Amino acid sequence: MVEQHARISASVYTSHVPAIGAALDLGKSTEPYWQPVFQGYEASKQWMKDNQPDVIFLVYNDHATAFSLELIPTFAIGCAAEFQPADEGWGPRPVPVVQGHPELAAHIAQSVIQQDFDLTIVNKMDVDHGLTVPLSLLCGQPEAWPCPVIPFAVNVVQYPAPSGRRCLELGKAIRKAIESFDRPLNVQIWGTGGMSHQLQGARAGLINREFDNAFLDRLIADPEAQASVPHIDYVREAGSEGIELVMWLIARGAMADLAGGNAPEAIHRFYHVPASNTAVGHLILENR
Ligand code: DHB
Ligand code: FE
Repeated sequence: MVEQHARISASVYTSHVPAIGAALDLGKSTEPYWQPVFQGYEASKQWMKDNQPDVIFLVYNDHATAFSLELIPTFAIGCAAEFQPADEGWGPRPVPVVQGHPELAAHIAQSVIQQDFDLTIVNKMDVDHGLTVPLSLLCGQPEAWPCPVIPFAVNVVQYPAPSGRRCLELGKAIRKAIESFDRPLNVQIWGTGGMSHQLQGARAGLINREFDNAFLDRLIADPEAQASVPHIDYVREAGSEGIELVMWLIARGAMADLAGGNAPEAIHRFYHVPASNTAVGHLILENR
């Protein structure tokens, strides 16, 4: 009998700028300011349709929406059957409720915790722009999201945030967990947030094209080296909110090459400045 198990087919990386969600929801996506941003995702939207996963494991950060400063899990896995959209600022976005995958999420929690990463299990959680904007960018404005999503929230808002190294290693553990699930599911892992931006203080509005493009290069070709970059370098070069980029290393760590497989193929790469206060970056890597 052929052994059946889930596998990770691809990783998707994208910024989550909240104003992108507002532009889409308010029908402004064809305006001159926004058109180039959405244009950069057209090929990816088609790719999503052609490569429909069964589940998306979506690494993102909450912005004091589900978790206030009273309770700050470093890594939180959403195990619920569904997650309501909620948001700060513009209010909840008019997007579909996110359906979860409790069985796969519980399996991943079991496996990853047994691999010595202490996840927080969350059975009720609202999801903000950190999760819904990436879904909108890749899926458009459907009646329902195309598949179940497992939200995986990372603390990059309140120091101490996890290191790039910890994130990459966690991605490797998530890969093992997903690939030991005994159903033939096609799973995509998404790493979201970033790229360079700073929302407060004297350097508010900081954007660093050079840093962002070097990050993309190294994320693709040498993620182990990128994982050694300390937080202070992100903050100095990419601004205080540029630290969101460590989440991309979780998705990258789950790709086959870091477990002895082939290098991934870069299907699509996009970079645009500016969108609101930040650079928009986007990448799709397929396992071969
Ligand atoms: C902006 C970017 C973010 O990542 C965020 O969480 C909030 C605001 C911005 O560019 O305005
Ligand atoms: Fe953010």
